Amino acid sequence: MTILVTGATGAVGRHLVAALVAGGEQVRALTRKPQEAGLPAGVEVVGADLTDPSTLHADLFDTVDRVFVFPAEHGVDEFVAAAVNATVDRFVVLSSLAAAGEFSRDIGSASYTHHLAVEQAVTSRTDDWTILRPGTFANNLLAWAWTIKAGAPVRAPYIHSAQAPIHEADIADAAAAVLTQDGHSGKIYPLTGPQSLTRIDQVAAISAAIGRDIQLLEISPDEFRADAAQYIPESIIAMLLDYWSDTVTEPDRPRPGMRDLTGRPGRTLEQWARDHRADFGAA
Ligand SMILES: NC(=O)c1ccc[n+]([C@@H]2O[C@H](COP(=O)([O-])OP(=O)(O)OC[C@H]3O[C@@H](n4cnc5c(N)ncnc54)[C@H](OP(=O)(O)O)[C@@H]3O)[C@@H](O)[C@H]2O)c1
Repeated sequence: MTILVTGATGAVGRHLVAALVAGGEQVRALTRKPQEAGLPAGVEVVGADLTDPSTLHADLFDTVDRVFVFPAEHGVDEFVAAAVNATVDRFVVLSSLAAAGEFSRDIGSASYTHHLAVEQAVTSRTDDWTILRPGTFANNLLAWAWTIKAGAPVRAPYIHSAQAPIHEADIADAAAAVLTQDGHSGKIYPLTGPQSLTRIDQVAAISAAIGRDIQLLEISPDEFRADAAQYIPESIIAMLLDYWSDTVTEPDRPRPGMRDLTGRPGRTLEQWARDHRADFGAA
């Protein structure tokens, strides 16, 4: 039987495909650009666009019994409907901790609304689902990559706020566990990194990994808004500022999901930074 992975060329998806192949699973990887996929040998790469139902050909689901559902911006509802029609059994959904609506800042936010809709596309159609709800990705810190490469100071608001960033490979390992083991049906797993770290600590972790000092300059929320306005939509800027502001007084709490699913804690931020040394300009 085959596992169909959507988002297979993404940060999480590449690690997931590699983990499944290493475990001897038959993997079909969905991408809009099959020629550029660059996935491991043995993976069956298929071209389809989740926003275009006409590309979801019937044979996409041939022999597929399990699907990893990536929360693409559009089209997940139609994709899941087609998969259920094709008698796919098990769905593992990449969602977000925001969908839990644990904090008032989350309710109605862009991430809450989007990820809840993705979850409901699956939970409204089948009982054999598992939802992974990661908190903030360590990869979000790549927003500092160009600044750090250029040797300029990192400009950030709320530098005393603390988050528990998760390595993308850990989300993939959690997904691989759920896709290949029984007993996770109908369960929701919150996932975070193993430590709550201030933004000062996060810069220090990158600095240690690349062997170079990084200056951190605290800026006001308005200065951040002005800096980010050219490349981040206002709804996301508002969500980020609310998150950082709240986590000054209530730091992110590391969650047990990684250990529950894989038997080990998540990778540290130092490990993530070492894995991304090249992104920050280190050899
Ligand atoms: N950043 C956070 O802190 C955070 C927290 C919680 C949850 N999340 C969720 O995690 C996601 C990011 O995961 P990631 O970092 O692994 O993603 P990523 O590296 O940005 O990769 C995006 C993937 O989605 C695929 N994709 C996008 N639109 C598609 C379409 N129309 N049809 C088919 N495939 C499509 C891309 O495939 P091709 O380009 O090859 O077609 C690619 O594989 C976010 O979008 C969010 O929903 C993020």
